[in-house]
Amino acid sequence: DKGTYPYYMLKEIDEQPNVMRKLASLYTQESGRPNVDQTLIDTMKQADRIYIVGAGTSYHAGLVGKKLFEKLTHVPTEVHVASEFAYDNPLLSQKPFFIFLSQSGETADSREVLVNVNAHDYKSLTITNVENSTLSREATYTMLLHAGPEISVASTKAYTAQIAVEAILAKALGEAKQQVIAEEFDIRQQLGLVATGMQAITDEKDFIESLAKKYFVPTTKAFYIGRGIDQTVSLESALKLKEISYVQAEGFASGELKHGTIALIEDGTPVVGIITQKRTANLTRSNLQETMSRGAQTFTIVRKGLAQPDDTIIVPDVDEMITPLLSVVPAQLIAYYTSLNKGLDVDRPRNLAKSVTVE
Ligand code: M6R
Repeated sequence: DKGTYPYYMLKEIDEQPNVMRKLASLYTQESGRPNVDQTLIDTMKQADRIYIVGAGTSYHAGLVGKKLFEKLTHVPTEVHVASEFAYDNPLLSQKPFFIFLSQSGETADSREVLVNVNAHDYKSLTITNVENSTLSREATYTMLLHAGPEISVASTKAYTAQIAVEAILAKALGEAKQQVIAEEFDIRQQLGLVATGMQAITDEKDFIESLAKKYFVPTTKAFYIGRGIDQTVSLESALKLKEISYVQAEGFASGELKHGTIALIEDGTPVVGIITQKRTANLTRSNLQETMSRGAQTFTIVRKGLAQPDDTIIVPDVDEMITPLLSVVPAQLIAYYTSLNKGLDVDRPRNLAKSVTVE
């Protein structure tokens, strides 16, 4: 039930703080220690490489997962688009472990990979929102997202829930592998900060709607740029804008823009820089400047600790490993309000189904 919300998408965006709190209380103990199935951790401990498989937004959550697993566990991690992996005959390591990310648990492209994984007797985990879904039943282990039903075609709370679960799992595995960085990473406390931070961002709806109306409704193209983990969020941000507002949007590594794509910038083209990482903040700022001098209308989504007077949207500070949980929220809202103000059916964009059950 949408309640007073005009569309499920907005309701689902607003539910994110509670999902974060719920995941913290279900998957961590009061002491901060992770509360994750020990046999899963024991199995993952044997792996020499983690392979994350997903499609669309779930693939984007996997890109964040790679950063988390490599930082917190030091296990090399690859992320694959399900539809490619199934037919690529990828070279696998000696002891691979597979993680399937799927909101619905029914995506045919991901299932095709899992069928192959099972044929080789490899161990796997499905992280999904739907108990007893196909991918959950067929994988060795399941972790549920506990996000509640996601009705809108555009995935929002499932993305942030997937990242939160990956962060908890990476901490658990990192601790089991005696990684100091994992021991020191207080995911329970961080998820609390994330929840409050998300709330603060969704309180700024009017401002974000005014930006959407003025700059994103009239445009036919837009760019999101960032580096490292911010680049992964730029991909997800662009997908949101594309699928529900039909703006041709691209997510881009900010340093790569000048190698060709900057030719697309025209007068007034919106370019949003995502800036949450200290090491690369100035680099992305100068890449934004380059687009501005070619006529772009630039915006920033910046972590508070790195903010400067002219920034557009400031998101609260959290550990740099999990900033996507906050930086994606303004982008979700920009996509929502662009679609809404274009008079489109936000929850049911053309040509799309909630769950893609054909390959
Ligand atoms: O149910 P899944 O997470 O496996 O779905 C994967 C994609 O089809 C899904 O994320 C799709 O890209 C969404 N419409 C994105 O908002």
